[in-house]
Amino acid sequence: MNVFERISEKERQYVEEVLSMNFRTSANSKMTRRLEEAFAEKFDSKYAVAFCNGTATLHIALEAVGVGLGDEVIVPPLTMSSTTYGVLHANATPVFADVDSETFEISAESIEKCITPRTKAIIVVSLFGLAPDFDAINAIAKKHGLAVIEDDAQCFLGKYKGKTVGTLGDIASFSFQSSKHMTCGEGGMLITQSPELADKIRKYSCLGYASVGSKIGKISKTDIQDPDYCRHGSLGWNYRLSDVCSAVALGQVERLEELVDLRKKSAELFDDAVKDASFLTPQKIGEEYESSFWAFVTKINDDSIGWRTFRDKYMELGGDGIYAAWKLTYQEPMFRNMTLLRREGLLNKEACYDDGICPVAEHLQPRLLQFKTNYFDLNEAEQQAEILRKTINYFK
Ligand SMILES: Cc1ncc(COP(=O)(O)O)c(C=O)c1O
Repeated sequence: MNVFERISEKERQYVEEVLSMNFRTSANSKMTRRLEEAFAEKFDSKYAVAFCNGTATLHIALEAVGVGLGDEVIVPPLTMSSTTYGVLHANATPVFADVDSETFEISAESIEKCITPRTKAIIVVSLFGLAPDFDAINAIAKKHGLAVIEDDAQCFLGKYKGKTVGTLGDIASFSFQSSKHMTCGEGGMLITQSPELADKIRKYSCLGYASVGSKIGKISKTDIQDPDYCRHGSLGWNYRLSDVCSAVALGQVERLEELVDLRKKSAELFDDAVKDASFLTPQKIGEEYESSFWAFVTKINDDSIGWRTFRDKYMELGGDGIYAAWKLTYQEPMFRNMTLLRREGLLNKEACYDDGICPVAEHLQPRLLQFKTNYFDLNEAEQQAEILRKTINYFK
């Protein structure tokens, strides 16, 4: 059978389990804790803390490593803007490093050029499901004493030199938003090997509660019923994931290999379709890398064809759409018009955010063709790959 259920009976059963508890705190289903345990195990990590989304995760990862006012954080501009939002939410200054022209991932060389005495952390994104060059990036981070935060919103079970992506930085962040490999509509997760970081992550994501910690997500009944109990050990945010969402996400973690594998199979079909097209260059995946193919992405090299013309032909032949890469973050109106909700002062006045700061990313962004890989019927993916082949032949 070629058709898969994105939400299976398992997820429905877990949701029913939560609902059957009627949200009575004394009898709750502990579904979020179960999800965290399953996720930590799947990603070879000691600690996992669930979040309401994969933007809040980035904010708290930065707070946990001590990033704040006056600090700079290096980020790629070719990604969904949440990577940079996390930095601004933490009241820090984003500094944009350029990407590699072949892998489209943040480049170690460019990171090194962005380092100043104020740099505190690097957020690396595993864009489209592919890891950046972690060895080179971690060596730079070590040399300069910087924290490395992985934004793996688009990379579930990807590999880098035999290691699971998510285990290579100090903290890794995942999103369960609906376009991701696994989903519960909206949600996220942070994982780490460090008990100290896990403790901070939990506290800062749970209103600074003093009695929650790396593996404890709730205040005990005894504490709550004590009139002298002081809850708030520090400032914090309320970024928890609900038990209903956790139930869906738990079912998805238990089926994660299957969900990732489907994306890889769709990507293989698209890859085969573009292999003889001299004017298309797919994202380069090195020998020691395993992409989890959140999307299949190729660059269109021939400007005489043009992105829109190619997409229009694909659609005319029955294609179901081609996504464009996001505008580079610093080209978005919030940067251009400085609409940062009174955080404008965070921006580094010397490092301007004008065009020209990341020439490779600027060249790539308007030329990337992004094909979705979340087909749950592989016949459909096959048909789309065939339409892509016909589109290519038209322009040959
Ligand atoms: C690379 C990247 N980082 C962060 C996010 C933010 O995740 P969320 O939508 O769960 O906040 C997303 C996607 O949505 C993403 O693609």
